[in-house]
Amino acid sequence: MNDLKIGVVGTGGWGKNHLRVLNELNVLHCLCDVDPERASFWSKKYRCKAYTDFEKMLSEEALDAVNVCTPTSTHFDIASKALKRGVNTFVEKPMTSSASQGKQLLELAKDSKVLLTVGFIERFNPAVSEAKSAIKNKMLGDPLLLEFHRENKWAGRVTDVGVVSDTSVHDIDTARWLFDEEPFLVFARVGNVLAGSREDFAVITLGFKKEKSAFIMSNWVTPKRLRQMTVVCTQGVITLDFISQESRYDDASGTRIPRREYREPLLIELEHFVECVKSGKDPLVKPKDGLNNTIIAEAALASSSSGTPIYLDL
Ligand SMILES: NC(=O)c1ccc[n+]([C@@H]2O[C@H](COP(=O)([O-])OP(=O)(O)OC[C@H]3O[C@@H](n4cnc5c(N)ncnc54)[C@H](O)[C@@H]3O)[C@@H](O)[C@H]2O)c1
Repeated sequence: MNDLKIGVVGTGGWGKNHLRVLNELNVLHCLCDVDPERASFWSKKYRCKAYTDFEKMLSEEALDAVNVCTPTSTHFDIASKALKRGVNTFVEKPMTSSASQGKQLLELAKDSKVLLTVGFIERFNPAVSEAKSAIKNKMLGDPLLLEFHRENKWAGRVTDVGVVSDTSVHDIDTARWLFDEEPFLVFARVGNVLAGSREDFAVITLGFKKEKSAFIMSNWVTPKRLRQMTVVCTQGVITLDFISQESRYDDASGTRIPRREYREPLLIELEHFVECVKSGKDPLVKPKDGLNNTIIAEAALASSSSGTPIYLDL
């Protein structure tokens, strides 16, 4: 018997992975998709009840949590309904389409006293968690510069947001997490060659205290899927591949390539979510992280439009 009842909203390209993992964790109770065929397909596969109307699912099921895996433009509406009902909520990244919606969601979560978290999955990538510990323990001194490459051909899948809110936002979150502080400066250039009216390539510079900086390069133009990070520290360099989870630590004494078992980040992320719902403990990704990542993404777009740096006080 399930000890938690979780409902998944949105069973498309990414939501189907939430279904699989929550089913593995034995907490998948029901699902909802506005596409009846999709809803019915997954409901048969996982033998759980399917809905095409989220409000109906909320009123008919006594759920402990919902996982919102619908397009970004719908996150605010769906997550606010769940929070108003006092249901713990996991929203996929980015938390909302705008910072003003994000602020409202934080207020709702505070009033309803339930858990709200956002799918910044790289924090659960074993190679990134290990880099975070190395930085915290000053294994290679202090971090100075972070460089991110997240590139892939646009599959036409995402149409409601551009590459900054959809893709760069992962690296915005990782940079804030690894430096363990908020950037005060955002300067970006973005452009569009393929993806309809939205930007599909971006270079974002984030400025942190003491000249520490992150360079985030994202695009939907490169034909090859690339997701890499370099962390330049005062006494060495960490290079890491988000996809293969391989990493390498170089310093004056030589090179270390850690051996580590590959683990699915989504499984680690959802195990953590389930544990937080059960225990009431604070999630690793706080609602404020979701909001600040959106504020920074908005600042990047504003910087590109104006051609000037944007200063933030987060
Ligand atoms: N964390 C990650 O690594 C990661 C990876 C991919 C996508 N995502 C995020 O997951 C979300 C979904 O992305 P996707 O690629 O699966 O999109 P998708 O378009 O493939 O799937 C979205 C699904 O939601 C359904 N839907 C739309 N509106 C709905 C509503 N109001 N109620 C119920 N169902 C509704 C659609 O019918 C569709 O099946 C996005 O926020 C995206 O940014 C996160």
